[in-house]
Amino acid sequence: MLPRVIIHNAVSADGRIDWLTFDLGLFYGLVSRWNEDATLGGSDTLLKGFEELVEDQNETQEEIQADPNDKRPLLVVPDSGGRVRKWRTILRQPYWRGAIVLCSEKTPKEYLDYLNGIKINYIKAGKEHVDFKTALERLYEEYGIKTIRLDSGGTLNGVLLREGLVDEVSLLINPSLVGGTSPNSFFRASDLTSYEGVIKLQLLNLEKVTDDIVWLIYKVLK
Ligand SMILES: NC(=O)c1ccc[n+]([C@@H]2O[C@H](COP(=O)([O-])OP(=O)(O)OC[C@H]3O[C@@H](n4cnc5c(N)ncnc54)[C@H](OP(=O)(O)O)[C@@H]3O)[C@@H](O)[C@H]2O)c1
Repeated sequence: MLPRVIIHNAVSADGRIDWLTFDLGLFYGLVSRWNEDATLGGSDTLLKGFEELVEDQNETQEEIQADPNDKRPLLVVPDSGGRVRKWRTILRQPYWRGAIVLCSEKTPKEYLDYLNGIKINYIKAGKEHVDFKTALERLYEEYGIKTIRLDSGGTLNGVLLREGLVDEVSLLINPSLVGGTSPNSFFRASDLTSYEGVIKLQLLNLEKVTDDIVWLIYKVLK
């Protein structure tokens, strides 16, 4: 079985996710709708979000152990390159009860040893990058993750959309036009070469959440 997968992004009216200023309280306040079992955070999103925080090397390993009675979601991060190193700092945030890292055969052994050392579980799936179909099946079966929300940019969104693994797309449309020609839309798809690959959506919900901001939720038609 596969978990239900939701993309939730703030976008400009022209579908861009960079150079945006948006209200984080409003953005994350809406996610309770899904009652997620896990957040799937893109490694680049995570690295950017925590770049200014300094890892405290003195904390004990036990301090990042998950409490089985804790109802907060897990944080799941695809990180085949072994780049995310600030796990103590990340898990000191109040949002998640623990973490699982998705790795591939290419992930350096040294990184897997580091994860073992700080008692963070990992799933190995895929050769170069993470094989998400396998990883998501294992998250469902081994960790009971039935609903997972992406907190990622266009790269990870794009990989999962192109693999047909996304069930819902939620967009908070900000009142701005970013313009430019960079590919930083919420859906990057370098392998999309014709109309044949365009993904069809069905509107599930439309809400005006502030004077200027509209929230759209779509079902992905498969
Ligand atoms: N506006 C919004 O709502 C919003 C929300 C979140 C983030 N953002 C912004 O988005 C930006 C980051 O987005 P991003 O697109 O650069 O990165 P990202 O989606 O955060 O991270 C890329 C992820 O995709 C994986 N990946 C890359 N290529 C892959 C492949 N071929 N197969 C499988 N997995 C693959 C990477 O895993 P590996 O590490 O294993 O390669 C990585 O975990 C930041 O600027 C952030 O602020 C905006």
